[in-house]
Amino acid sequence: MGFFSEPMKKMFLKLVLLCLCLWRLDGVFSVAVKLVSVMEGDSVSLNSDLTEMKDDDVIQWRFGDENTVIAEINVTAYRITVYDDVLDGRFRDRLKLDNQTGSLIITNITTEHDGGYQLQINSAIKSFDLYVRRVISVAVKSVSVMEGDSVSLNSDLTEMKDDDVIQWRFGDENTVIAKINKWPDRITVYDDVLDGRFRDRLKLDNQTGSLTITNTTTEHTGDIKLLTSSEIRERFRLFVFVKSVSVKEGDSVSLNSRLTEMKDDDVIEWRFGDENTVIAEINKPNDRITVYDDVLDGRFRDRLKLNNQTGSLTITNTTTEHDGDYKLLMSTARLSSKSFIVSVYGE
Ligand SMILES: *[C@@H]1O[C@H](CO)[C@@H](O)[C@H](O)[C@H]1NC(C)=O
Ligand SMILES: *[C@@H]1O[C@H](CO)[C@@H](O)[C@H](O)[C@H]1NC(C)=O
Ligand SMILES: *[C@@H]1O[C@H](CO)[C@@H](O)[C@H](O)[C@H]1NC(C)=O
Ligand SMILES: *[C@@H]1O[C@H](CO)[C@@H](O)[C@H](O)[C@H]1NC(C)=O
Ligand SMILES: *[C@@H]1O[C@H](CO)[C@@H](O)[C@H](O)[C@H]1NC(C)=O
Ligand SMILES: *[C@@H]1O[C@H](CO)[C@@H](O)[C@H](O)[C@H]1NC(C)=O
Ligand SMILES: *[C@@H]1O[C@H](CO)[C@@H](O)[C@H](O)[C@H]1NC(C)=O
Repeated sequence: MGFFSEPMKKMFLKLVLLCLCLWRLDGVFSVAVKLVSVMEGDSVSLNSDLTEMKDDDVIQWRFGDENTVIAEINVTAYRITVYDDVLDGRFRDRLKLDNQTGSLIITNITTEHDGGYQLQINSAIKSFDLYVRRVISVAVKSVSVMEGDSVSLNSDLTEMKDDDVIQWRFGDENTVIAKINKWPDRITVYDDVLDGRFRDRLKLDNQTGSLTITNTTTEHTGDIKLLTSSEIRERFRLFVFVKSVSVKEGDSVSLNSRLTEMKDDDVIEWRFGDENTVIAEINKPNDRITVYDDVLDGRFRDRLKLNNQTGSLTITNTTTEHDGDYKLLMSTARLSSKSFIVSVYGE
């Protein structure tokens, strides 16, 4: 027999739940919680707002419902401790502490880092709520454009709300290329990022946030995402085609990757047609060159040559069946993907 009778146990449980709710109310509503919104893969700094730490400060960072300590500074002892092993190691190699201010920097964020963070300085507590936006939740829209032309990427927002922040990001590393802050009313275009490949080419509609890229080059081929303050709204896969290459039936055509040489960790793929069928691949890490002879009813059989230094593709003895779109996809953000239109004309 337990100490409490069944009804008492229930009542006790209710009381505990009530207390937890009140505590939660207190935790969530009466203490100011700073909302921080980031995207998977990003880094974020949770600011202590201290300019310096005093000698008697002990600073602790905690995470989650159980308030697990993940990092700690004991200023008296000049000791910074990061607890890599707690919570199944989800923070391993991802935490940095600023030894001047005690601010916490979390790198390469995943959805596992979504949640509440608490900073305790002596007896004062600051709370943060980190909201991690997932990258994969939105369907990708493919957009194709010819080199030199302009392309508009529609935000699908009829009007921006007053508190909206809109960001446009490019490529695997999600580099911010343009941003609109509705309050204060400010449009920022990041001309210098990515070696200036978007310089003087971006226009933003200050009502809807839609983005126009003018005078496109093949370097603009890649994934472009639109983020608002709370979510990823749109994902575009932009293909900028090199002006079409014409070739006489029976002749060869070379599609130039414009790489001087491939690095040891590069993987590239050549794809053909509306279905983006893989026809050839170079996988440097596995030291493998593959030509897919059997795809598309064998129309490329014995006709493809891949240059193993540059990744350029040559199609020999062309027929009208080789007429169409060719895409070169590259694994690393360092390289930009390319697209070609080949038209094969008869004798
Ligand atoms: C901080 O370090 C000092 C010196 O090692 C030690 O006396 C003190 O207990 C530590 N404080 C905490 C909270 O760990
Ligand atoms: C703080 O960090 C900087 C750079 O990481 C380092 O040079 C410096 O020695 C550190 N200071 C203390 C007190 O640990
Ligand atoms: C980021 O974390 C993922 C796993 O969550 C890992 O696969 C990836 O290599 C990490 N990236 C960097 C740059 O550390
Ligand atoms: C928004 O754009 C329009 C037309 O380009 C311009 O007249 C207006 O001044 C802009 N408003 C702001 C706040 O920049
Ligand atoms: C378009 O960009 C190319 C370089 O990529 C430049 O040479 C050309 O002058 C630009 N054209 C216009 C109209 O801005
Ligand atoms: C690359 O091509 C050259 C000439 O075609 C050949 O000699 C060399 O073995 C190839 N290298 C690899 C890794 O396939
Ligand atoms: C070119 O392809 C045609 C069939 O499409 C074939 O009859 C011919 O022999 C090929 N020529 C060469 C030189 O391979």
